[in-house]
Amino acid sequence: MNTPVRVGVVGCGYWGPNLIRNLRSLPDCEMRMMCDVQPGRLAHLKTVYPEVQDTVDFPAMLAEGGLDAVAIATPVGRHYEMAKASLLAGKHTFIEKPMARSSAECEELIELARSRGLVLMVGHTFLYSAPVRRIKEIIDAGDIGPVRYLNCRRLNLGLFQKDINVTWDLAPHDISIILHLMGEPPLAVNCQGIANVTPGVEDVTSLCLSFPRGRFAIVQSSWLDPRKVREITIVGARRMIVYDDLQTQEKLKIFDMRVECPPHYDTFAEFHYAYHYGDIYTPFIKQEEPLKVMCQHFLDCIRKGQAPLSDGRQGLQLVRILEAASQSLREQGAAVSLAPPA
Ligand SMILES: NC(=O)c1ccc[n+]([C@@H]2O[C@H](COP(=O)([O-])OP(=O)(O)OC[C@H]3O[C@@H](n4cnc5c(N)ncnc54)[C@H](O)[C@@H]3O)[C@@H](O)[C@H]2O)c1
Repeated sequence: MNTPVRVGVVGCGYWGPNLIRNLRSLPDCEMRMMCDVQPGRLAHLKTVYPEVQDTVDFPAMLAEGGLDAVAIATPVGRHYEMAKASLLAGKHTFIEKPMARSSAECEELIELARSRGLVLMVGHTFLYSAPVRRIKEIIDAGDIGPVRYLNCRRLNLGLFQKDINVTWDLAPHDISIILHLMGEPPLAVNCQGIANVTPGVEDVTSLCLSFPRGRFAIVQSSWLDPRKVREITIVGARRMIVYDDLQTQEKLKIFDMRVECPPHYDTFAEFHYAYHYGDIYTPFIKQEEPLKVMCQHFLDCIRKGQAPLSDGRQGLQLVRILEAASQSLREQGAAVSLAPPA
């Protein structure tokens, strides 16, 4: 039996309690401390997890908590300073998405973790979800043919944020999935959007990532939509997949559909596209909570000294795309190159 990894969670608002619940459920984890500046949040969580120590003082948690690792679930504006303090205190560090407010902050954290031999992981939760893992297997096996494009829609009414726009809030999920499935970095990003409710904070955005060989991915993000939608369509040359994350059972549907051009024809009248309509099938997917898989991966990486699937470099790549999207928004949707500087 391994000695449990002693973990503290900072930020016990909407999302942090999900990390606490999952970490606490893992046998090789001691969910030791929870920290929030709001005593009311801690008082509530103490009724649910009476054995977990609580504090309003993050520096004290780092200095005196006896922790091996820290998970940060505070608003993004605090990620950098807290992760830096955590790494400087010698703790393996998990940061919720997006990793930080700028690529410069991400680079500094990556170097700090590297120089101290600490695990740095970012909460790109969907990389640990069974449907996304299954889609990746299907694509890698060549079952749908080369991917032509992806279309992602993540829409609902609220939760309106004041410090970040909807791209920084919702699109990280889609972008992390796109990068995972495309398997190569995008060349450029365009983003357009509108701030309907809070001046200067876009609540509806449409982002397009361009990839080599004319491939692309569209990400539509909204806090101002009557329906909750969590849907990704992956169009391959031979088949297509629709991933609807709101379905409880049939999250993936594979459509054996495609369109083919005739190899040769002599007159325009002879020209017909061939539309292929085949079966639609639903692969079985084991139900497991992605957050639990992600938390276990964090512990495994600490124990084995391995880089996580969503490590600091993945976090940096995503933040670079978000930065470029913000620049594109300021430039009314102009394409912003993601090529590294010469
Ligand atoms: N992976 C996912 O699916 C997912 C989903 C939702 C949110 N998130 C991420 O989780 C993070 C938190 O989001 P949220 O919606 O829970 O925010 P939230 O505002 O509901 O909660 C943040 C908490 O941090 C606390 N806090 C702020 N500064 C602090 C400090 N200096 N010391 C201690 N506590 C402090 C606040 O009091 C608050 O309780 C964000 O990075 C967000 O992007 C991830």
